[in-house]
Amino acid sequence: MTNSGTTQRVSVIGLGAMGAALAQALLRGGHRVTVWNRTPAKAEALVGDGAVLAATAADAMAASDLVILCVLDDAAVREHLEPAAERLRGRTVVNLTTTTPEQARSLGAWAGGNGIDLIDGGIMAVPAMIGGPRAFVLYSGATAAFERYREVLGLFGRAEWAGADFGAAAMYDLAILGGMYSMFAGFQQGGRMVRTTGGTATHLATLMAPFLQAMAGLFGQYALGIDDPASYVPEQSADFTVGALRTIATAADESGTASELFEVLLKTVPGI
Ligand SMILES: NC(=O)c1ccc[n+]([C@@H]2O[C@H](COP(=O)([O-])OP(=O)(O)OC[C@H]3O[C@@H](n4cnc5c(N)ncnc54)[C@H](OP(=O)(O)O)[C@@H]3O)[C@@H](O)[C@H]2O)c1
Repeated sequence: MTNSGTTQRVSVIGLGAMGAALAQALLRGGHRVTVWNRTPAKAEALVGDGAVLAATAADAMAASDLVILCVLDDAAVREHLEPAAERLRGRTVVNLTTTTPEQARSLGAWAGGNGIDLIDGGIMAVPAMIGGPRAFVLYSGATAAFERYREVLGLFGRAEWAGADFGAAAMYDLAILGGMYSMFAGFQQGGRMVRTTGGTATHLATLMAPFLQAMAGLFGQYALGIDDPASYVPEQSADFTVGALRTIATAADESGTASELFEVLLKTVPGI
């Protein structure tokens, strides 16, 4: 049940690791949950907890005003939504499948043309975090529908609105993941480097993690340089950053662990 005490009918299509966690959160929230999965056996635990298993994806979509999809990719989303367009008219579809912003926009245009309110979402959590304090989910698209279902969606984690552009949630999602993968690439390279002087990646991890957490506090300053470059006065000059990256690249060379990572980073320094 939501804070305001309203029990909603919600359908969840796709019961992989993430879809199952979303359906569990809805059941814990007291909602009437209908589920469907291509492999029905994955619904067993949820049915034991009170979910209703629909015979087909279309039946699941017809059972609720709020339909949540969490399947593998955009192709799987299309495969199930498009044949059900008529049944979905007037309903709200929340697509929590990871897609590109353009795929989300294209799906938004299709939904609009069929009288369906589409909200696209990007989940910033692993399944075990769903419903916990560190999970958040980005949403964009149909604004009024998002406000209507905000409380229900809040059961998954903090519901963060990214804007009316259907592609906005996916863009923030992928931007954050891009930052994460860049960080992991730096750690991989650093781990190889310290091992050449008798160190270990394990020791490096204990040193690098708190340092990078502190450095993340500078994002706000860097953001000004991107959002409003004309009024931005950088704390660290481009020349300083280029010099630091060249020194790091030389150290990687000397250690025999050179990779293209620092050459790529040199190309990203603003003003160079
Ligand atoms: N897991 C995470 O940490 C995480 C985090 C953020 C976002 N996500 C996103 O959440 C989505 C689901 O991820 P997951 O972790 O749940 O993956 P998963 O455990 O591999 O499950 C994939 C799901 O997609 C279904 N599926 C695949 N192709 C299908 C098709 N053609 N028609 C119908 N169903 C199909 C699978 O059905 P079967 O059971 O029949 O194979 C299963 O329910 C992905 O887009 C992923 O990027 C996941």
